[in-house]
Amino acid sequence: MKEVKISVNNFDLYYGEKQALKNISIEIPAKKVTAFIGPSGCGKSTFLRVLNRMNDLIDHVKIQGEVLIEGVNIYDKQIDVVNLRKRIGMVFQKSNLFPKTIYENLIYGLKINGIRDKKVLDETAEKTLKQAALWNEVYDRLHEPALSLSGGQQQRLCIARALAVEPEIVLMDEPASALDPLSTAKIEELIHELKTKYTIVIVTHNMQQAARVSDQTAFFYLGELIEYDKTSKIFTNPTKKQTEDYVTGRFG
Ligand SMILES: Nc1ncnc2c1ncn2[C@@H]1O[C@H](COP(=O)(O)OP(=O)(O)O)[C@@H](O)[C@H]1O
Ligand SMILES: [Mg+2]
Repeated sequence: MKEVKISVNNFDLYYGEKQALKNISIEIPAKKVTAFIGPSGCGKSTFLRVLNRMNDLIDHVKIQGEVLIEGVNIYDKQIDVVNLRKRIGMVFQKSNLFPKTIYENLIYGLKINGIRDKKVLDETAEKTLKQAALWNEVYDRLHEPALSLSGGQQQRLCIARALAVEPEIVLMDEPASALDPLSTAKIEELIHELKTKYTIVIVTHNMQQAARVSDQTAFFYLGELIEYDKTSKIFTNPTKKQTEDYVTGRFG
């Protein structure tokens, strides 16, 4: 039996009066890639933010239910949210690098955690750039502005920066949707390599991408989790008609 990393039980989320997530239950396996698919506005990003409590930062959000990571409910009162977000890295659709150098972006998370030792910082920078398949492209320009990189390189730098604090889980919200096909292929290859060490959850509206990179796929529609299964099953022989209509391109 696969090891379960994240277990969500009967989770509801409201923005004010509007219910955006309806009774979601799901078990996300460790060291696999889990994809969330579904039409725009169905709650994919909202649910991703539930998994590292980013929704705490949004006003008028009400929640009910539990999210267990290795059996501990991350919504319990005694949970240290700063530490939680260190364990769970996040990468967004658009690169959110700081207007600083490549190096400073990479070590930012370590610095705010009080690490000052230059040797440790240098080693981390090199290690994470290699993990993100970016080292060969930037090793001789670490002190140049991060924003001088191409879009695809910036996204890989965002991934490297997320890895620098040694997270257990990496959440990615449409990380390649603004990229050209070549850069997209690099990100997908990277995701494939990262799952040997990390639990990865990726939101994508690109079904071919979900089919290529993920082990498990969850189909969301209007705030509900309609179907969740092995990716091959979701794309070739889904159980629910709504899933089939979506994956065959009949709506969405
Ligand atoms: N900060 C917010 N405040 C109010 N409503 C929101 C907020 N973010 C998302 N929503 C609403 O919640 C629903 C789900 O949105 P979202 O999670 O962004 O969907 P997806 O990522 O699948 O496109 C949508 O109806 C959206 O308008
Ligand atoms: Mg979204």
